Formats: sequence, structure tokens, C-alpha cells
Amino acid sequence: ALALVRPRDLAGRHVVVSAGGTREPLDAVRFLGNRSSGRQGVALAATAAARGARVTLVAAHLSVAAPAGVDVVPVGTADELREAVRVAAKDADAVVMAAAVADFRPLDPATVKIKKRPGAAPPTIALAETVDVLAELASDRLRAGQVVVGFAAETGDAEGSVLEHGQAKARRKGADLLVVNAVGDGLGFGTRDNDVTILRADGSVLTTARGSKETVADAVWDATVALLDEPFQ
Ligand code: CTP
Ligand code: CA
Repeated sequence: ALALVRPRDLAGRHVVVSAGGTREPLDAVRFLGNRSSGRQGVALAATAAARGARVTLVAAHLSVAAPAGVDVVPVGTADELREAVRVAAKDADAVVMAAAVADFRPLDPATVKIKKRPGAAPPTIALAETVDVLAELASDRLRAGQVVVGFAAETGDAEGSVLEHGQAKARRKGADLLVVNAVGDGLGFGTRDNDVTILRADGSVLTTARGSKETVADAVWDATVALLDEPFQ
């Protein structure tokens, strides 16, 4: 295999990466969660550090170890993740939202354990929408010139292909880059390899990458560095 010598092109930069999956409490012992392992976010954090960045990793329930040499901020819920990302993003050159953030949380989590009641109907759980952290970062731009990057795991369906869903999401979110990850068919969640298309804010294709999560991470940082090096508009 080729020895990979990474450029130190993120030296002097602060980057924020969110990783893992949030958990929204349902009662004292239960939560609504997701299957994100945090591997892609951890690869992004490790790669950025190897390229010379100061890295803040906002980590939601990682099932892999955080890399050495990065500042880890552990979070639980979507709301905690939002707060931690926004604090770290104030002086960040780039923010990459690789975390799987809950879209909904139980509106009124019980402080005790929900009990079965013999003969009673199962409870209905009212949900509230969480804040879209990525869209908010893209519209707020907490630091001038900050590059904001999102991820989207998509499957094709009757309404459109992976690419079409990704393009619609890119236009909706307002992030500078959206990394569209084809999931299903042994790709994506919990696996070691990824197949991604990196889109610009207008939905146009910037580039594609396929391989390990490190390969994808390097492609994301290549695209991010290119935007950071552009003169301010
Ligand atoms: N995201 C976020 N805050 C949320 C939900 C998602 O910041 N409350 C971010 C994710 O971290 C990711 C991007 O938005 O970078 C896309 O997430 P995704 O779930 O694919 O998009 P949604 O807009 O939530 O659309 P849907 O789940 O309906 O496909
Ligand atoms: Ca979502």
C-alpha cells in the first residue's frame, strides 16, 4: 500500500466535527436513538488533526474511541449537541456535521420509568421537532468565512435517486458542502466503506469519493480547504 503523506493544509485552523448519534430521553431509563457508530466523524477528526488542525469533536454516544490529540466534548441529546457545536463554532474555520441528530424528541419525557398498566392501551408519545443545527449554522455563520459542511445518508426510493434526494437537501440546508452517502446494499451505517458524492450548496456535483471513511474524510477536507483558501466574497 502507498504510504499516505497528508498535507499540513489545516495548520492554524480550528475545525469542529460532530459525530455519533444523539439520544432523546423518553423516560428515566429509555431513549429514542439511532444506529450511527460515529466512525465517519471520528475519521474526520483524526484526519483533520493529521492535517494540522486544532480539532473539537462534539461526540454523541460514539461506539468507537475518539482519536488522540483532539478536544472531545461529550453530548447526549440534539439540544446538547446544538449548544456544544455553537460554542465551539464561534472561532471555527469549518464545522462538519457528521452526527446523526434526532429530528424529533419526546415532548415531555417522564422523570420516572413508564409502567405497563394491565388492560390499558399502550401510551402514545408526543414528539417535538428539534432544531436543525446544520441549517442554523449555515444561516448564522458564527464566524466570517466559516465553511459549513453537512452529511446526508440517503437511499433511492420511488420519489427519486440518492443523488436527487441529496441535491434537494443541499439546496434546502444552505451549507457550503453536502456529503451525500449512499446507504443500504452494505454501504454506510456501521460498515467500514463509504461511497459519497460531495455537492455544492446549489446541488451541483463537486466530486465523488469511495473507500474507507479516512478516504472520504480526506476528500471532505480537500474540498473544505479549497473553500477556505478562496478569497472572501
Ligand atoms: N442535522 C442537524 N440537526 C438536525 C438534523 C440533522 O444538524 N436536527 C444535520 C446532520 O448532522 C447532517 C444533515 O443535517 O449533517 C443532514 O441530516 P439528514 O438527517 O440527512 O437531513 P434532514 O434534514 O434531517 O432530513 P431527513 O432526515 O428527513 O432526510
Ligand atoms: Ca434527519
